[in-house]
Amino acid sequence: MRYYRYKMQWRYTESRIKYPKFVFETILDYVKKSLGKSPKYPLAVDVGCGPELMSTVFLAPYFDKVLGVDISESQIEQATLNNKHSNIEYRLSAAESLPVEDNSVTLIQVATALHWFDLDKFYRECDRVLVPGGVVAAFCYAFKDFPIVNHPHGDEIHKVLTKITDKLVSPDINPYYTEHCTWVLNRYTSPEVQIPYKDTKRLMEAYETDDPEAPLTYKLEVFMLLGRTPILYNYLISSHCMHE
Ligand SMILES: C[S@@+](CC[C@H](N)C(=O)[O-])C[C@H]1O[C@@H](n2cnc3c(N)ncnc32)[C@H](O)[C@@H]1O
Repeated sequence: MRYYRYKMQWRYTESRIKYPKFVFETILDYVKKSLGKSPKYPLAVDVGCGPELMSTVFLAPYFDKVLGVDISESQIEQATLNNKHSNIEYRLSAAESLPVEDNSVTLIQVATALHWFDLDKFYRECDRVLVPGGVVAAFCYAFKDFPIVNHPHGDEIHKVLTKITDKLVSPDINPYYTEHCTWVLNRYTSPEVQIPYKDTKRLMEAYETDDPEAPLTYKLEVFMLLGRTPILYNYLISSHCMHE
C-alpha cells in the first residue's frame, strides 16, 4: 500500500484521530517492566510511522533516538517536514527490512499499520533487531458505532453515517476493502495478526478490563475527513455511495 499522493497526504494528517495518551503510557510501562527503569532508553523504532504527528513524536522524551520508518515516500517527506525533535529521524524503509543493527532496539511501535505488513518477515526482523527484553507494541483504533453528541440533528446524521460506513466496510460493495481492514475492525483480535511472543498481552488486559470499547470523542469534520484516507476515499470517489 502506498500513500503516494501529496494532496491525499495533507488530508491524511488532518483526518487522523489522535491516540489517547494512555496508549503511550502503557507501552512505556511495559518497557520499564521489561528492561528496568531508565531516564532514557537507547532506541525506539516507529514502523509505518506515517506523517509523524500521531505516533512517533510521543516517544521522543523517553529515548535517546527515535527512528520513524515508512514504506511511503510521501509519508516520510511529510514526517521530515513536520519534525521538530532533534532525536527523531525518519527513513524510507519497509517494516520487513529495518535499517537498524542487530540487537539494538528497545521498542518497536506500530500504530495502525501492522495489518499492512508481511507479518512473518516483520516478526523475523523484530527478532533480529530487538535487544533481549525488548518490546513490540502494536495498536490501532476501529469504528464500531459513532453516536453524534451535541448536535441538533445527531440522530439523522448518525443514520446516514451508519448507512455509508456499512457500505464502505462491505467487501462485496467496496473493492478496496480487504481482509486486512477486517483485522482492524476486529481490533487486532484476529489470529492472523497476533504478536507471536509468549508474553504478549492485550492493552485492555493490561488495564485490567476486558471492555474493548475505549471511547474516543472527535469532531464530525474529522470523521468526514477520515473518509478521505486512501482505502475509503478511493471507494468514495469511484462510487455512488454518497448519493444514495
Ligand atoms: C494507517 S497508516 C498509520 C500511520 C501512523 N502510524 C498513524 O498512526 O497515523 C499506515 C502506514 O503504514 C505504512 N506501511 C504500509 N505498509 C508498510 C510496510 N510494509 N512497511 C512500512 N510501512 C508500511 C503506510 O505507508 C502508512 O503510512
